[in-house]
Parts: sequence; C-alpha cells; structure tokens
Amino acid sequence: MFAASRVIPSLAAKRAFSTSAANLSKVAVLGAAGGIGQPLSLLMKENKHVTDLSLYDIVNAPGVAADVSHINTKSVVKGYTPENDGLKAALEGAHLVIIPAGVPRKPGMTRDDLFNTNASIVRDLAEASAKYCPNAHFLIISNPVNSTVPIFAETLKKAGVFNPKRLYGVTTLDVVRASRFVAEVKGKDPKDCKVTVVGGHSGVTIVPLLSQTGESFTKEELDALTHRIQFGGDEVVQAKNGTGSATLSMAFAGARFASSVLDATVGGVKGVVEPSFVQSDLFKSEGVEYFSSNIELGPEGVEKIHGLGEISDYEKELISKAVPELKKNITKGNAFVQ
Ligand code: NAD
Ligand code: LMR
Repeated sequence: MFAASRVIPSLAAKRAFSTSAANLSKVAVLGAAGGIGQPLSLLMKENKHVTDLSLYDIVNAPGVAADVSHINTKSVVKGYTPENDGLKAALEGAHLVIIPAGVPRKPGMTRDDLFNTNASIVRDLAEASAKYCPNAHFLIISNPVNSTVPIFAETLKKAGVFNPKRLYGVTTLDVVRASRFVAEVKGKDPKDCKVTVVGGHSGVTIVPLLSQTGESFTKEELDALTHRIQFGGDEVVQAKNGTGSATLSMAFAGARFASSVLDATVGGVKGVVEPSFVQSDLFKSEGVEYFSSNIELGPEGVEKIHGLGEISDYEKELISKAVPELKKNITKGNAFVQ
C-alpha cells in the first residue's frame, strides 16, 4: 500500500518476504479519536506486523476502538480514556507509539501558534511514555513538530530514558505532497516523482531538494513548487475553513512512516529509507540539534542519517533561511521542559 517509501531496489524481494513473516507487535495511537487518529488507527489495523492496537484519547476512544475492532485482520483493538489508568494500560508493552494528540490550526494561524496548547499535551504524554514504555519507538505528529520533538526528547532525558534512535518527528506528509505537486506540474505518475525534503515541518523550514529529482524546472516553476510544498498545509487549513487541518493525507503519511518503522524494526527489512525530523549532527555546528533528512531505518530505529548530497545555490539559500527558524523552534521546545 505504501509503495512510495524507499527501499534499496536490490532488497525489495527481501522486504516482500519479511513483511509476510509473523513478526508482530503492539502499537499505541495517542489522540486516536481525532481527525488524524481515526483514519490512522484504521490504516494501522491493516498492518500485518501489529498484534495489539491500543487506541487512547481523552474522549471517545472506546467507540473508535469498537468500530475499528470489527475489521477482520488479526490484531486485537482496545480503546482507553484517562479513567482506570487508561494511559498506562494503553502504553504498557507498546513497541511503537504514534502521537497525533493536540489541537490543529485554524486559518490565519501558524503551527507555532499551537505551541501553548500542544506543548503541555506532548510533555505529559512523554512523561507517561517514559514511565510505561521507555524503549518504544515514538512517532510525533502533533504540531509544531519542530518544537514538540525537542519537548518529547527533553522529557525523556529528564527521566533518563532518551534514545535518539527511537524518536521521530513525522515529516512524511511533506514528501508525499512534494511528490504529488511535482507530478502535477510534470504530467507524471507521482510514483515516478520522488522528492527529498529536508529541514523541519513548518513554512520556510521545509526545504524541497528539487534539483535532485532528475527533472528540470523553470525559475517560475521552482518558485511556485517550492512555495506550494512549504505552505501546502495552509491550502488544507483554508479549504477546511476553521474545522481543522490535514487529517486524511496525514493519516496516509503517518501510516506509511509507521509501516516503514515496523518493517525495519520487527520485519527485519534492510535498507528502508524515510525522511524524519530526528536528532542529527548535520547542522549541529550551527546550533540546530534536530533536522529532517532521509534516514535509514534498522532493527534499533535510526541506523544512518543521510546527508543532503549535492544541492543547488537556490537550495543553499533556502537552507540559510530554514536554519535560524529551526534553531528558534528547537530552543523554544527545549526551554519549555528545562
Ligand atoms: P483533532 O483535534 O481532530 O484531534 C486531536 C485529538 O487529540 C482529539 O481527539 C483530542 O481529544 C486528542 N487529545 C487532546 N489532548 C489529548 C491528550 N492529552 N491525550 C490524548 N489525546 C488528546 O486534530 P487533528 O487534526 O487530528 O491534528 C492533531 C495534531 O496533528 C495537530 O497538532 C496538528 O497540527 C498535527 N498535524 C501534524 C501534521 C504533520 O505533518 N506532522 C499533519 C497534520 C496535522
Ligand atoms: C500539515 O502540514 O498539513 C500539518 O502540519 C497541519 C498544518 O497545520 O498545516
């Protein structure tokens, strides 16, 4: 289903074998009754690695769980709310925790405007994760990702259980969009348009490396595509007109990333490459501790962080605008916990 995730071609056959192996695990979705949480839970119900699907939300999760549980795949679905230590039960034994809990944008807001509400939600969920499933892989969807990932990391550090190989800011939607938008301009099938996107997940921190696509673009196309990829989220926020932001495309992207992590960590698949906002040395010398680039996933999580490769002067300019903004967002997240 998630054919767009990248696997070194010579290993594709190995992947096909591995994903059919009975190598299973518990996945928890926190914020499971929300706009992203519901379709994401549905997609995770289809994943053959999953033995237990644990759906947690402050409201309505038991209903979502009852609904999803009727789908005739092998996993057992349970729904939890804060009552009866629901968060503990949802997290204990989890191999993978996916977090779309928090408020979405309305028109006119930036992702950073969500900080005041979502920072404490993410911190509280990180505290519980540190206690009940410290060795899990944590996939952070809640915005602003550039700050919520540092918040989650700092909270795990405080508890003495931070493993940088297992904390991922989910930036998959940016490459999904980029592929679709480039395909539209070039009149191609999106499956033939792979676009590397690096940096972070908001506005100017989203840096598409269009020079690496193998396509040629006029300056006008480059400007328009870069802007559309950087501000694609706004298109959905405006179209939804106050009722939320991307949910269905995000669920698709989140499930693709989660499936890739499961393939690599329980399926034994080698050479799985996805973009993600992780602790990274790429721009550390410029004070940027976390950066999104392609990462290779292995049994322990992040196995290798890919560099940017050769980039154009146009992209160097985009990076120079992204770095100070990222630094600001990361510092804000760190400071919230410290
Ligand atoms: P939503 O309001 O539809 O759903 C959020 C859910 O979180 C709700 O069901 C709510 O009850 C729940 N929630 C709130 N506090 C909670 C807590 N403490 N514990 C558990 N659950 C809690 O919002 P949505 O559209 O699903 O978006 C969720 C988040 O994902 C937003 O912050 C949004 O900006 C972000 N998002 C990120 C990306 C990305 O690419 N990373 C893409 C789209 C949206
Ligand atoms: C997106 O990129 O669609 C999400 O980050 C949601 C948003 O606020 O735009």
